[in-house]
Amino acid sequence: MIETKIKLKSSVQFIKYMGSKTKLLPFVINGIEEAYNGGVICDLFAGSCSLSGAIGEQFPIVSNDIQAYSSVIAKAYLTDWNDCKVNSKMVMEIAKEYHKKHYSTLSNNLRHTENSSLKEFNRVEKLNQNLINQEFENTWHLFTKNYSGTWWSAEQCTWIDSIRKAIEDLKENPAYNTMLGALMYAMAYNSQGTGHYAQYRDAKTDSSMKDILIYRKKSIIDYFERKLDSALEALPSIQPKLKHEVYTLDYLDCLKNLKNATVYADPPYCFVHYSRFYHAIETLVLYDYPEIQHKNKKMVKGRYREDRHQSPFSIKSKVKNAFIDMFEIIAKNNSSLVLSYSDTGMIEIDDLLKITKEVFKKHTVSVKTLDYTHMTMGRKGDRDRMVKEKLIIVKPI
Ligand SMILES: C[S@@+](CC[C@H](N)C(=O)[O-])C[C@H]1O[C@@H](n2cnc3c(N)ncnc32)[C@H](O)[C@@H]1O
Repeated sequence: MIETKIKLKSSVQFIKYMGSKTKLLPFVINGIEEAYNGGVICDLFAGSCSLSGAIGEQFPIVSNDIQAYSSVIAKAYLTDWNDCKVNSKMVMEIAKEYHKKHYSTLSNNLRHTENSSLKEFNRVEKLNQNLINQEFENTWHLFTKNYSGTWWSAEQCTWIDSIRKAIEDLKENPAYNTMLGALMYAMAYNSQGTGHYAQYRDAKTDSSMKDILIYRKKSIIDYFERKLDSALEALPSIQPKLKHEVYTLDYLDCLKNLKNATVYADPPYCFVHYSRFYHAIETLVLYDYPEIQHKNKKMVKGRYREDRHQSPFSIKSKVKNAFIDMFEIIAKNNSSLVLSYSDTGMIEIDDLLKITKEVFKKHTVSVKTLDYTHMTMGRKGDRDRMVKEKLIIVKPI
């Protein structure tokens, strides 16, 4: 059991996130305590914002990630508050009215019947998927058109769109990001996938069909309402006083204006891109009807956004320079660094340490190690793997 002087808050979880540091927070915060110099703490690759959720009430945070959904979660933890003027009932009243007006005539053919055969099940799934070729007249139809029959059924997608519309109507409310977070949560727990959106499953056997049906029958509304009410309850009742900043920038742009800070860097460790695994919540947040990626003139199965970010930390030929660029700015701007990495990353720990020492000449560099079961979310055929988590701690002398 690792002890920390800083008290950690157990925060509301909005998404299941690959590489989330939630379970490793005492280890990470131990490292931050060692490096902290009294200024702001920058969570440079914030992802699901586990750090802000745990210590955002005690320190001024600069939260950054290239993905827009991360900024929504950061704001839910750092700047949202509950003025008691919204609750799940109110959001659902708007959503239900919209749904009734635009989706009550959605064809019954799109619904699965009890005890349908595998063939019949897949026929209905195909009808759902073909909605992508249909024209819609109402404004809020992005998920119904693009994602029916994928991670969600058409019915579930109509509710995602209707609730998203209701949340946008309440944009001025100080719990706006918390509402979006609750919808991301409902999407994750209704999805027939394994917690991310890289691939949805096909029903190839009776048993996979049965399992997919469990998720197809779940209610977006129930999950959304429950999550929103508990998340609202956990929010402060007055506007938070600490000055936080939240960005959706490339890490180098974020670092440029940051001086005398403590930077916590948790970059991607492996070759898969977050923009592929979490494109659906990116699209939920941006709601911008993106171009969908095609390969050889065919739409890709995962229906990814065409403009997905490709991280240099996930590309073998680029990872070394990506670290050097990061270290150089941090050294120049007199900040401290706490870097998370693992012994299964894109670059060997010894090489990483060598680069660290080459760039940070007027600094102390130390390393902490923790044995840890890593969640791979099904990527490697196994859901968990033992890895050594490392923290490289760098402080100006
Ligand atoms: C290991 S995850 C961070 C997990 C986070 N610490 C948590 O607890 O949820 C790495 C993050 O880096 C982000 N990322 C990748 N390339 C980036 C870049 N060039 N600039 C900023 N963020 C980037 C990804 O979107 C992803 O959220």
